[in-house]
Amino acid sequence: MLTRIDHVGIACHNLEAAIAFYESTFGLVVVSRERSEQQGVREAMLRVADAPAGTSYIQLLEPLGPDTPVGRFLARHGEGVHHVGYGVTDISAALASIGAAGVRLIDSRPRHGSMGASIAFLHPKDVGGVLTELVQAPGPG
Ligand code: CO
Repeated sequence: MLTRIDHVGIACHNLEAAIAFYESTFGLVVVSRERSEQQGVREAMLRVADAPAGTSYIQLLEPLGPDTPVGRFLARHGEGVHHVGYGVTDISAALASIGAAGVRLIDSRPRHGSMGASIAFLHPKDVGGVLTELVQAPGPG
């Protein structure tokens, strides 16, 4: 069902400072920047590696304000790992299967994510405390 780790989402206070750190320390390159009012974040995707199953990324997340999901995460936990995103080939089938296994779905149907992907989040309380995201890359068409 899971094809790879698509990305690790990292919450930060200052997106530009976090990008500069990952660029200078690890030599990563920003491949996408987006702002989502709906999710309350500014974000950057940095390519880590290309593999046969697809590319993997670091996703840096800066909240647009304190009263957003990432803003509340930062207030509670400080900077650090926010979620893990796994690649799937059929996100609707994966959600049906995972939901049937008893895991609560934050998104019962897929929504638009970074770089044209379809995404859905699973409830961290049912995944050992890990906020978990499913990512279906946009199709070739
Ligand atoms: Co993500």
